[in-house]
Amino acid sequence: MPKYFIGVDVSTTASKALVIDEQGNVVAVASNSHDLSTPRPLWSEQDPDQWWQAASKSLREVLQKVSPDDIVAVGLTGQMHGLTTLDRGGKPIRPAILWNDGRSGPQCDSITAKVGEHKLYQIIGSRLLAGFTAPKIVWLRENEPESYSQIAHILLPKDYVRYKMTGAYVCDVADGSGIALMDIGKRQWSDEMLAATEIPRKWLPDLCESTDISGYINEEGSKATGLKVGTPVVGGAGDQPAAGVGNGIVGANQVSLTVGTSGVAFAFAEVYNPEPEGRLHHFCHTPGAWFYMGVMLSAAGGLRWLHDELAPKSSYDELNEMASSVPRGSLGLIFAPYLTGERNPHPDPLARGAFVGLTLRHGLPQMVRAVMEGVAFGMRDQVELLRTQGVHPTSAVVSGGAANSPVWRQLITDIMGIPLYTVNTQEGSAFGAAIMAAVGGGVYKDCKAASAVMVRKVDEFQPNPEGVAEYERLYPIFREVYPALKSTFTALAKFES
Ligand code: XUL
Repeated sequence: MPKYFIGVDVSTTASKALVIDEQGNVVAVASNSHDLSTPRPLWSEQDPDQWWQAASKSLREVLQKVSPDDIVAVGLTGQMHGLTTLDRGGKPIRPAILWNDGRSGPQCDSITAKVGEHKLYQIIGSRLLAGFTAPKIVWLRENEPESYSQIAHILLPKDYVRYKMTGAYVCDVADGSGIALMDIGKRQWSDEMLAATEIPRKWLPDLCESTDISGYINEEGSKATGLKVGTPVVGGAGDQPAAGVGNGIVGANQVSLTVGTSGVAFAFAEVYNPEPEGRLHHFCHTPGAWFYMGVMLSAAGGLRWLHDELAPKSSYDELNEMASSVPRGSLGLIFAPYLTGERNPHPDPLARGAFVGLTLRHGLPQMVRAVMEGVAFGMRDQVELLRTQGVHPTSAVVSGGAANSPVWRQLITDIMGIPLYTVNTQEGSAFGAAIMAAVGGGVYKDCKAASAVMVRKVDEFQPNPEGVAEYERLYPIFREVYPALKSTFTALAKFES
């Protein structure tokens, strides 16, 4: 009898179900989209029942292709930080407030002041950001007392889907870390954060590890999804740690670089040791482990901006050709990639993009290459922060749009100075959740053993020694750009509206 595992990914755009076999081969996949609503500036909301409709439909679709009898277990993953408030009957009180919602800046400031900056970084493993869940709960108390008074349960997006399938109010520690109410080193709720935010413990779900069984498909869950009653559902993880497992980042010094719209450098950590200034997210990972994550808010998004605004008639292939025709260093042009502010290593919402060093010799081809180089240097900044925390990669997984462009991929490899490689799946998060299901379902002993079989290296790219040498000369110059322009960015912000 075949053994299959399902990963369900409740992302911001869609809910996907992915079925894999014991070797990590993808057997079936289905996806159904959600709407996003932005009713006011800074707001970003979603209807939790759309997640459930889309996830259950995707499950029904994949179960047309494989038999529910062959499903060993299900793992859940999804967008992190989304505040989902339920009443006593388990019904959503209001739309969920998502990870990219910026309304709770003032609440972040007051909670941070109450706990004390450095103490807070030690407890929650990061700075407190407006997207995180806890400050949004406090926002609700201060701005929507009527909704707040009805709260009986707080869940994250994928955990609402878990609740609908199993009836269990459970969250895994990897996704739970992004609520900002956990003591990350201890992998449990923090009394100190609960006291500072005045949030009742009884509202919060029980915590489990990513590979623990969190519940079993119940009658209603079975009717909606087509899964058999009693199918185990494992804890799973937020989209970033699940993608980490899907990329095989399950041991010391392993790193992945995802250069998509935003850029993420993700690393495994054996011990809990937050970056002293909170400039990396340091959250729970697979059992007994943590991860570091550095985020660039605008990465490949920078090239899309250049294309749309300055070269809408050129294809991306043409832009790649232009970049290839320009020597390293773009004839002395540097691009600061902070088009949407920055998280790491410069936590500054007012950081902005800039071309530095323009001359009459520069045109579109040099600007294209400078954007690619600026994004790659921004990713290098993430890796340098990881190094300060004792992560020393000898190679890294690369994925995202930039990895599909040969010229961009090569210059990223040269700027990193280590070999980069791709793996056998582009399904990142859902694939990682399915691996967790294979472990929780008892087929593999742990995520390391599962990923040794299921995650395979596909292509490897070597740094070019000349490229490495030239970019080592340019990188310190790039590092000077943000500090030099920081006060200019702050002053310019006053003219933005
Ligand atoms: C993680 C984060 C995003 C969201 C949505 O901190 O904000 O990865 O999980 O993808």
